[in-house]
Amino acid sequence: MNEERTIQTTVGKKRQPRQRFVHVCAACGHTSARWMGRCPACEEWDTMVEEAVPSARPNGSGRGYGTDGAGGRPEPLAEVSTSAAPRLVSGWSEFDRVLGGGIVGGSLVLVAGEPGMGKSTLMLMVAERLQAGQVLYVAGEESPRQIKMRADRLGISARDIHVFAETDVARIADAVTATEPRLVIIDSIQTVHSSDVPAGPGSVIQIRSCAVALQRLAKQMEVPVLLVGHVTKEGVIAGPKVLEHTVDAVVQFEGDRHHSFRVLRAVKNRFGSTNEIGVFEMSGVGLREVENPSARFLACRRAEVSGSVVISAVEGTRPVLIEMQALVSDRAYGTPQRTATGFAMRRLQMLIAVLARRANVRLADHDVFVNAVAGARVDEPAADAGVLLALASAARDRPVAADTVVIGEVGLAGELRPVHRMEQRIAEAARLGFRRVVIPSENQEGDDQNKSVQSIGLQEDSPGCGSGIEVIGVADVAELLGTCLADRQ
Ligand code: TYD
Ligand code: MG
Repeated sequence: MNEERTIQTTVGKKRQPRQRFVHVCAACGHTSARWMGRCPACEEWDTMVEEAVPSARPNGSGRGYGTDGAGGRPEPLAEVSTSAAPRLVSGWSEFDRVLGGGIVGGSLVLVAGEPGMGKSTLMLMVAERLQAGQVLYVAGEESPRQIKMRADRLGISARDIHVFAETDVARIADAVTATEPRLVIIDSIQTVHSSDVPAGPGSVIQIRSCAVALQRLAKQMEVPVLLVGHVTKEGVIAGPKVLEHTVDAVVQFEGDRHHSFRVLRAVKNRFGSTNEIGVFEMSGVGLREVENPSARFLACRRAEVSGSVVISAVEGTRPVLIEMQALVSDRAYGTPQRTATGFAMRRLQMLIAVLARRANVRLADHDVFVNAVAGARVDEPAADAGVLLALASAARDRPVAADTVVIGEVGLAGELRPVHRMEQRIAEAARLGFRRVVIPSENQEGDDQNKSVQSIGLQEDSPGCGSGIEVIGVADVAELLGTCLADRQ
């Protein structure tokens, strides 16, 4: 043994010509041959760490990164079979839809989220619901006992779920090969390591090599692998971000710690559309699907209070109605405060400037707070008009009619710009019993909305909505304020 080692070190250069070192950015995963104080990709300071590049693949067959281990020779694209990708369906439409209709066989899916969001709960519940046969739950964070306790709390029998308290990727691969499960869950990727990689668990290079090994395993065994990955509010601790290129799909599980809503959001999907969302609610007995998110987001709404406006945000393919609230108060001290929860700060600042210049509503001496209620998050420009109106309503202390939904993007000239999927947004408003939608006039003219709108409003299952919905087109912010904040009887 000793001799062999000596030989290896003395002639090491010849025997292992591929041993290299790279500098990896711990924040974004960018690699560079030389060290740099500032990562050129994400521009973070002091994040580059030196790591050794493994000379062989983690579990031994000598392939480099980037190969998926499908093996064999090149084959004509026309002859590649596409039928071998059956999907595992959980029956939870909120979950399946986000993944494009279920989990594709042989795919590697990253489920990313902040600690405590409910990722492990989601995984356990999905495993139970799949009824696919055996599921291998690799537990690197919790003991099998803790997982059993959670299963008991969730009231699931977990008969087909096998827990494996292991963190070595080679042994995980052996277990998968030996037991041939229908689904593998790794909770979490940060705890998995490969003994072939000279770096600590949780380091960028470990995470990436393990993900590559698991990707290969998934393809070879045609078993889908769900990777749980932690992210922090500030961004990333060596993890999910660097995996995005390796995995087939990335879904984010997000929500506000103080609210029970959880949103599952596809941010990358090789097998389906991105930007699809599923809405869940965390209860005492696990997660529940929320099939009618608009109704939930609008619950507890106080009618006719100034600063409250309902907007429509399209999430994936679905419009969701969300109440936006604004509060304007005299500046407490120093620089006026601007606080936005669930809405982009830059957008808020832009809207405040537009209000001042184009509608003469000046907030320079006021503290301004904007909040998307119930922990919702809105990043669609279509919310602009509603937020702007909420600000003006708060500033003038004049409420907007509670039965009104406001949709539209606001331009710097104060114009209301058209948004996509208008017909669906209006239909959702009608379905929930709203009686008026205020939209950019260009949207109205664009595709002769008025006619279709009237019929949409007449859906039979619309609670309290028997007479259609009034669609009002406005051209700019002045007209918007005139229409919605005018004195009403
Ligand atoms: P968990 O799945 O452990 O989160 P993660 O894996 O993302 O870290 O769930 C964490 C939280 O969810 C925890 O604070 C308790 C709460 N929870 C419920 O409210 N109801 C439940 O039925 C379960 C299992 C958890
Ligand atoms: Mg967990």
